[in-house]
Parts: sequence; C-alpha cells; structure tokens
Amino acid sequence: MDTPERIFLIGPMGAGKSSVARRLAGRLDWEALDTDAEIQARTGVDIGFIFEKEGEEGFRVRERAVLEDFCQREACVIATGGGLVLDPDNRELLRSNGYVVFLNAGLDTQMARTRITQHRPALEGTDKETVLREMLESRLPLYHETAHWTVETDGQRVQQVASRIYEHLGSLGLS
Ligand code: S3P
Repeated sequence: MDTPERIFLIGPMGAGKSSVARRLAGRLDWEALDTDAEIQARTGVDIGFIFEKEGEEGFRVRERAVLEDFCQREACVIATGGGLVLDPDNRELLRSNGYVVFLNAGLDTQMARTRITQHRPALEGTDKETVLREMLESRLPLYHETAHWTVETDGQRVQQVASRIYEHLGSLGLS
C-alpha cells in the first residue's frame, strides 16, 4: 500500500481511540480528528442530547456526514465512534480511504475506561457491563472485518499503544 493520507482508529467504547489518535498524530506530525468531537463541535450540544432529540438514527446520519468530510482531509489520524462500523457503507469508506487499525479492548478495560458517559448515552442508566458485553459480541466481527490491523490495548498505556501502531506503520514502510 502507498503511504496512506489517513489512519482510522476503530474499536469499542473505552478502547482509548481519542487519546491514542492524539498521541499518534503527534508522532507523525499529523492532525488528530475525532468523529464524536466533531459532531459535538458542529451541533454545539453533546451526543446525549442528540440521541435524546433525534434518536440513534439521527446521530448516525450526522456521523456519516462527518466521516465523509474526514475522508477528504489529509495527513490525519481519525478516532471514530464505537458504532460507526455498524453501517456497511461506513465500513467500505473506512477501508478505501485509509489504513484502519482496530484497538481491541476486553470488557474489564472498557468498564474501567468508560466512567465518563456524557457522550455515551447507551451506557446511561443501564447495566453498563451487560450493554458493553452485548455490543462487543455483536460488533467484534465488524471490527475485525474492517481493520487492516489489530492492536491489543488491555494493560497498555496510551503512549504504548500509539508507539506500537507507529512501529507497525514503520514496518510497513508507512511512517
Ligand atoms: C457509540 C460510541 C460513542 C459515541 C456514541 C455511540 C457506540 O463513541 O459515538 O455514544 O455506539 O458505541 P466512543 O466509542 O468514542 O465512546
């Protein structure tokens, strides 16, 4: 593969996509982008509010629009929302517009890293562990099918995960 213009980070809530995107972008001297943050910046409200007013369906429409725009940006590491891979067209957009890295995280890691639920309405007022387990089970095949490469994040610091990706890109001649 030629040098990609963008790296996409996919994976479940609490995998560390946003933090790793910032760190990796710093090492590559690229820009860090984040679909959730962009949706919040464009609407001026948090994701919980969008789910409340427009439902998940409305949120997914906004998420697609942001993804399409990000596919036009260059030299960027893009953190994506955990459910972005649900849509087959999104999966195709990811694979054809950059190098896709799956940040895998076990349930314990996700539980520990999802204390902040402001942009995660699916976890509010529910049995968080059950919701995360069900999501992981149903989405795991989608993450695997979409990713060009997988990195394990359990027990790893942000810096270590970013370094592993950076070194992997180097081994492919991409960084
Ligand atoms: C979602 C994950 C969230 C956010 C929204 C929906 C999901 O992003 O996009 O709450 O369906 O898994 P993170 O993966 O960054 O938490």
